[in-house]
Amino acid sequence: MTTKLATAIAAFFLLASIAVIIAISTVQVKQKTYISPGLKYGIVLDAGSSRTTVYLYQWPAEKENNTGIVTQTTKCQVKGPGISEMNLEAWNSLKSCMEDMKSAVPPHQHKSTAIFLGATAGMRLLQQKNKGESNNVLTSMQDYLRSLPFDFHNASIISGQEEGLYGWITVNYLMGNFLEKNIWNAWVHPHGAQTVGSLDLGGASTQIAFAAPSDATGEDLIKISLYGYEYNVYTHSFLCYGKNEAEKKVLAELVKTSSGRLPINHPCYPLGYTFIISGEDVFGSECTKNVTPVWYNTGKTFSFIGQSDPAKCKSLVMKIFDLRTCNTTGKCSFNGIYQPPVTGDFMAYAGFYYTAGALDLKGSNSLEKFNSTMWSFCSMDWKTLKKNYNITDKHLKSYCYSANYVHTILADGYKFNADNWEKLDFQKEVNNTSIAWSLGYMLAQSNMIPAEAKLVKLPISNSVFVVLLFLFSALTIITLTFLIITLVRIFY
Ligand SMILES: *[C@@H]1O[C@H](CO)[C@@H](O)[C@H](O)[C@H]1NC(C)=O
Ligand SMILES: *[C@@H]1O[C@H](CO)[C@@H](O)[C@H](O)[C@H]1NC(C)=O
Ligand SMILES: *[C@@H]1O[C@H](CO)[C@@H](O)[C@H](O)[C@H]1NC(C)=O
Repeated sequence: MTTKLATAIAAFFLLASIAVIIAISTVQVKQKTYISPGLKYGIVLDAGSSRTTVYLYQWPAEKENNTGIVTQTTKCQVKGPGISEMNLEAWNSLKSCMEDMKSAVPPHQHKSTAIFLGATAGMRLLQQKNKGESNNVLTSMQDYLRSLPFDFHNASIISGQEEGLYGWITVNYLMGNFLEKNIWNAWVHPHGAQTVGSLDLGGASTQIAFAAPSDATGEDLIKISLYGYEYNVYTHSFLCYGKNEAEKKVLAELVKTSSGRLPINHPCYPLGYTFIISGEDVFGSECTKNVTPVWYNTGKTFSFIGQSDPAKCKSLVMKIFDLRTCNTTGKCSFNGIYQPPVTGDFMAYAGFYYTAGALDLKGSNSLEKFNSTMWSFCSMDWKTLKKNYNITDKHLKSYCYSANYVHTILADGYKFNADNWEKLDFQKEVNNTSIAWSLGYMLAQSNMIPAEAKLVKLPISNSVFVVLLFLFSALTIITLTFLIITLVRIFY
């Protein structure tokens, strides 16, 4: 073979390779434009006891049944109280949140964007107290949501069990525990993957949920199938054990033992901090009405003075939990509620995260570190706290209480101990998506979202693409070989 011929052949293959590269990239670009019929959107209003949060989620339309595809586009915090006590400011704030949603979703997709409202423990309590009023509140929310350009689906009170389960679905969906892509690009059940438990703390209720052994049974166990797999999920919601309602229980406990002598010492509030609270703010709740002292008259107010006493605070907070009653052979959390032993990792979010975060205990830590940090926080007086923490007074005064609440419910209630406390991960989001029941709720109801227009067929299949890629690699190797041969001939 002459050098000239070799060079010509090399040049030919080089040109051929370039042609293949151009062909492949053209197909890739085309494929990209074909692959994106667009994003789909869904809106969920999480109507909590103390406030409402509006979440906007998005996902690629043609992949809606894959896992881990839904992300949070944006969220909007509605000002003011929860929907059970909407005032003008809260309505205006809600309307402005919905304006944000209207501008975040392309106008031609408003009609196909599903909108849901789920009300939680605040409304469960109102329903208990006054069914007519809770219906009125829901009706007014439904009327408002129907007036928006979106596809209204549902505005209702979700049960505590649903709330716990949806939280668990959210956690595991976001962590990719349900399905993953294998090397052949197919969705499979992750090999040996464990699900993660879910710990949610709201203002009026708290939820625990985790995958229990398949032989565990009882009213708190739910069997659900997801992506073809069945899970046995234990979930319990404790009404009145949200952060705010539990704090009222603590105040009620102090008032009861004071027998009406004022001011009342509060070991969890900081030394140098005093406050006056109306009796209605303590005993007006469904959660404390059963412990109202006989001598209490409506209109009475109570004054409290802080003590910064960590040991007394811990034993006070423990009093609102019944840690003794249990008629299911010792397998109880508290208040006589059956719970199988906690297993595996847990995500602790919402109020759990905010409390841990305030004390700089985000992520995972040892039980000892949690206790010692809490202890020194609770020992600080009001002046020291104000100097060391940039937190509003309203919240700052309560973090010692809430840290003790978190410590007690997790350690004494759910029975996390020194060995598995580090399996608790205090977080608020995964990949910029909030950990909240609302995502799991939307996913569960998403078969109600109408199917998108038919998918456009791709110009080439995956296998044609693989053949082209193979051809390209072969040509490159041949070209290089010829070039080397040519160079060798020239120089030797
Ligand atoms: C997703 O699943 C639902 C219910 O099985 C089905 O109706 C819908 O067409 C599916 N969507 C896509 C994009 O495959
Ligand atoms: C609305 O949601 C509630 C709670 O999840 C559910 O029980 C009810 O069936 C739903 N209603 C409709 C019309 O989907
Ligand atoms: C928490 O820490 C304090 C102070 O270090 C200690 O006295 C107390 O016994 C600890 N409590 C627990 C439950 O470990």
